Amino acid sequence: MEERIISAHMAEEDATVEFSLRPRYLSEYIGQTRVKENLKVYIEAAKMRGEALDHVLLYGPPGLGKTTLSHIIANELGVHIRATSGPAIERPGDLAAILTNLQPGDLLFIDEIHRLNRSVEEVLYPAMEDFALDIVIGKGPSARSVRLDLPPFTLVGATTRAGSLSSPLRDRFGVVSRLEYYTEDELTLIVQRAADLLGVAIREEGAVEIARRARGTPRVANRLLKRVRDFVQVQGDGVITGEAARDALDRIQVDKMGLDQIDHKLLLSIIENFRGGPVGLETIAATIGEEAHTVEDVYEPYLMQIGFLQRTPRGRVVTPKCYEHFGLEMPT
Ligand SMILES: Nc1ncnc2c1ncn2[C@@H]1O[C@H](COP(=O)(O)OP(=O)(O)OP(=O)(O)O)[C@@H](O)[C@H]1O
Ligand SMILES: [Mg+2]
Repeated sequence: MEERIISAHMAEEDATVEFSLRPRYLSEYIGQTRVKENLKVYIEAAKMRGEALDHVLLYGPPGLGKTTLSHIIANELGVHIRATSGPAIERPGDLAAILTNLQPGDLLFIDEIHRLNRSVEEVLYPAMEDFALDIVIGKGPSARSVRLDLPPFTLVGATTRAGSLSSPLRDRFGVVSRLEYYTEDELTLIVQRAADLLGVAIREEGAVEIARRARGTPRVANRLLKRVRDFVQVQGDGVITGEAARDALDRIQVDKMGLDQIDHKLLLSIIENFRGGPVGLETIAATIGEEAHTVEDVYEPYLMQIGFLQRTPRGRVVTPKCYEHFGLEMPT
């Protein structure tokens, strides 16, 4: 799969800049108001009681700020964070080693928690519930289980697929928060804040222009900002005005709705070859030369979210809104 500038998935180029742009406290974290307000209360309460915060599950599409939020929670609590991920913990012993090394109150962050394997998950249950580790000593008939106390800790799990989490695991989280796509106004603030941190001059219309094409996703907004900055620094006077942003974004072929060339190809192929559908997923995939599951997981969600594409029992259908976007007449 080729690298898409509007992809919400983390790319190599994002790594360094994301680190410097990451908000560190709740007050700097823009949007997600409900999630933020609730967390503020739980954090405050845990601090007042001198207890570890309840376990928190954060879920939602990539690039919306799950990892960022988990670091913020640790900062607000004033505790250490130990970050790992589902696929990185291969055996139960790996998790046991991590857990026994935590300090009281510490935060353990497990990214992609839906990818933990079953045997590791089973170690997690008593750890989350009773702050205990059950270890088996010996083999065969003389084997016995010993319970080891753990320091109280907070588990923060992040996942893009809450649906693939087993229910015993999901039930052990006291706080379950879903992150939502950001509004244009919120993304405008995020772009302005990032420009400030990067030391780039930006006009409000410039920030709005970038926000509008960022597909509701801060990671995409930050990436577009960096590209636009390159254009204005090389070809302009270094200031991101509305016009400069529009020009740059048109040059990198991200249109007014945040669609790139691949989105265009997908939608136009349904319009031109199948009169707008319905057409099967496999056929679409073949027409644009991609795997069906890639089309389904990566290409379609945003197109459905903005109401350009619908999944029906008979196949994919392009909507009137999509025809309008391309300035085309709907066939009757
Ligand atoms: N609320 C926010 N305010 C400002 N910037 C944000 C916010 N949320 C995210 N960002 C920016 O977006 C970047 C991506 O966020 P983050 O890595 O936390 O996403 P994620 O949900 O963990 O993604 P993934 O699912 O790929 O792990 C961050 O580095 C940060 O710069
Ligand atoms: Mg993350």
